[in-house]
Amino acid sequence: MPGQTRTVKSILAAALLAVSLSAAGDDHRAKINYMLYCQGCHLPAAEGLEDKVPRMSGFVGYFTHSDEGRRFLIQVPGSATAPVNDEQLAELMNWILRTYSADELADGFEPYTVAEVAELRQTPDTDPAARRKQILEDLSKKNRQLRRSLAQPATSP
Ligand code: HEC
Repeated sequence: MPGQTRTVKSILAAALLAVSLSAAGDDHRAKINYMLYCQGCHLPAAEGLEDKVPRMSGFVGYFTHSDEGRRFLIQVPGSATAPVNDEQLAELMNWILRTYSADELADGFEPYTVAEVAELRQTPDTDPAARRKQILEDLSKKNRQLRRSLAQPATSP
């Protein structure tokens, strides 16, 4: 019967839609987690707050250029102690990097895995400001783009 065919077709269409939505669902959850747990300090466009919270927009990707920087992004207290599980923290950091700082990511950047995040967050930073300074100093020696970015007062983190 034509009516039945239509019903089957619309059920199939709904099922397909559900599958595609769940594939994109992680990004949605990451965004919600950002709004709930990060945005209060880092602000909606990850622009940060001058002299208080570093901007992540157009910047945070630089940290992926060294192993130490990569570890730092998870061990910094805002990340390590966030009230989300390891899977959601990996998803959140990968989303932050892609959303706010894709242009600064290291070539061939491999997204964080759940296991990596689980291990790193067990040892949160005790002196993030000093560690951050050291990492950026080391990185800027070999990264001209980062050096330039750090030299601009308006965008200096
Ligand atoms: C209470 C305010 C606050 C909240 C909430 C917060 N952060 Fe932060 N975040 C900071 C400050 C301040 C720094 C600078 C390093 C430090 O002193 O901890 C920072 C640094 C960072 C950095 C390193 C970037 C850099 O340039 O130093 C990352 C990555 C980060 N936060 C991620 C997050 C994530 C992810 C969340 C939410 C799950 C979050 N933060 C929540 C205040 C906050």
